[in-house]
Amino acid sequence: MQNSESSFEMTEHAHDHLDIPQRAANPEVNDWVREIAALTKPSRIVWCDGSQAEIDALTAEMVDAGTLIKLNEELRPGSYLARSDAGDVARVESRTYICSEKEEDAGPTNNWRAPAEMKAELSGLFDGSMRGRPMYVVPFAMGPLGGAITQYGVEITDSPYVVLSMALMTRSGDGALEHLTPGRDWVKALHSVGFPLEFEDGASRPDVAWPHNESKYITHFPETREIISYGSGYGGNALLGKKCFALRIASAMGHDEGWMAEHMLLIQVTSPEGKTYTLTGAFPSATGKTNFAMMKPKLDGWKVETLGDDIVWMRKAADGRLNAINPEFGFFGVAPGTGYDTNPVAMETITTNTIFTNVALTDDGDVWWEGMTDEAPAHLIDWQGNDWTPESGTKAAHPNARFTVRASQCPTLSPAWEAPDGVPVDAILFGGRRASNVPLVFESKDWKHGCFLGATLASEQTAAAEGPVGILRRDPFAMQPFAGYHMADYWGHWLKTGADLGDKAPRIFQVNWFRKDQDGTFLWPGFGENVRAVKWIIDRLENRADSIESPIGQLPVTSDIDISGLDGFDPAALDEIFTVDPASWLVEVGVTREYFDSIGEKVPATLYTELDAVHAALDAA
Ligand code: PEP
Ligand code: MN
Ligand code: NA
Repeated sequence: MQNSESSFEMTEHAHDHLDIPQRAANPEVNDWVREIAALTKPSRIVWCDGSQAEIDALTAEMVDAGTLIKLNEELRPGSYLARSDAGDVARVESRTYICSEKEEDAGPTNNWRAPAEMKAELSGLFDGSMRGRPMYVVPFAMGPLGGAITQYGVEITDSPYVVLSMALMTRSGDGALEHLTPGRDWVKALHSVGFPLEFEDGASRPDVAWPHNESKYITHFPETREIISYGSGYGGNALLGKKCFALRIASAMGHDEGWMAEHMLLIQVTSPEGKTYTLTGAFPSATGKTNFAMMKPKLDGWKVETLGDDIVWMRKAADGRLNAINPEFGFFGVAPGTGYDTNPVAMETITTNTIFTNVALTDDGDVWWEGMTDEAPAHLIDWQGNDWTPESGTKAAHPNARFTVRASQCPTLSPAWEAPDGVPVDAILFGGRRASNVPLVFESKDWKHGCFLGATLASEQTAAAEGPVGILRRDPFAMQPFAGYHMADYWGHWLKTGADLGDKAPRIFQVNWFRKDQDGTFLWPGFGENVRAVKWIIDRLENRADSIESPIGQLPVTSDIDISGLDGFDPAALDEIFTVDPASWLVEVGVTREYFDSIGEKVPATLYTELDAVHAALDAA
């Protein structure tokens, strides 16, 4: 039964000297707070109310502690720089575990540990892990308070950076606490940086600017809806509402309860005719989701409004359509590559009240990163705190440096983004970073084929996770690092959802902004010009554009792609952008078959049927 058992085997009861306020109306919440305090032995307990006064006080403490550097108030009002430890700069997938009772329920794409064994080990690590530090209790909602798709959780953490980030990234504090009523399901999210300041023997040590532990564990217990994260203060490892809850745990909840948690952006596009369409897009980490979500379209009369840039939850509404929300409250975007040329909307979003992590500091107290401007400043302090000049030969900002900012600051934010029960989805896009093979845009033949496109999504590896950059990595539905259960069962859930939605299902498309020619030059200008692919998608929805059947899907008639006013673009490049080369696709089909086989016997037969059909069509081409 969910939440009825304690997280750990307890050997000790709550400290008598700790005053433990019972703030929640739900006794399960209070009990859990007491239990964790007894284990982690913090100096005090702070229930976070989410108020601006609380945020201001925490921020001031972090400036004193050296965790945050206040940026120039005139240039970047209300904004701060954090420098993480060099050993704590990204999600650690090798230390991320799905701890289902049965290993086969985690599947081959996840690390697995038996829950009891994992908790026993974690219990040892958390024993006294908060000594000398406050323990913060952060109630939070994923989704608009009271919404039909919304879920609730509580994060316990010893990191004020996490509290502050959660206040920007989720609806945290008293508003969420009010919804944590007795009997309601909620997610327990426990986090410690694993850097106690005091020890059992009475010894103590001073704090450091970015406490963390060499040993890291990002663990998920999908059956009991719990998250336990140890040793990292960074982003997706530590802001547990985000990847851990809203993707890994929520995907498992969605599988059990008939809804979907996806690694997707959410936008609304309005055509020159004034008609608005809702699009979601699954793209792997650091392949331009945020840029696409905030696109300034380069075609006259078109408007893109932002609802979300990373996570979408979808559920069938009363009218039979698939409704979507962005469960988050802010953006945790990759800074490098973000500039007024590439993403002016993001640049406008982060002019104030933003936390920057691992970017460079300018001499006048502002921020800089590679790609913000064409030319680097003559002198900077790099992300590790060292002097830097363009001659240094190193990156001034870490490639995975981030900005954390409330969505409300985004000038293109759609008023519908807080629609409590979500907005109906018209089209789903899958995309990756593919130098070859994948055309700019095409449509799936139907939902099942769309699931095949999702399941076979691959992308060149980026800096968003540890590991080498550039290698082609399988990233089905962009969920490889985030599916909280067996990948084959997840694919089955997609197929089942489409069958259930029937003709009310969104249409499915694949896009690729990153195709290159023989010389390695990008064939497509990308960014705001991507609206031209979106325009074709909408023409398809409106039955205004024909498609050409190809072995891999329904391709555009090249002349239907609007390249009007696309300065310097050689129309001949369009042919290359849409080339489907049977020989190289046959190689890909072979690799895909091996890949499906590696996922194991649970891969839905439908996906092999789709693969066989593509194979046969390529043979015939
Ligand atoms: C993260 O690392 O917290 C994160 C948001 O992940 P990503 O950008 O890789 O999806
Ligand atoms: Mn992401
Ligand atoms: Na990497």
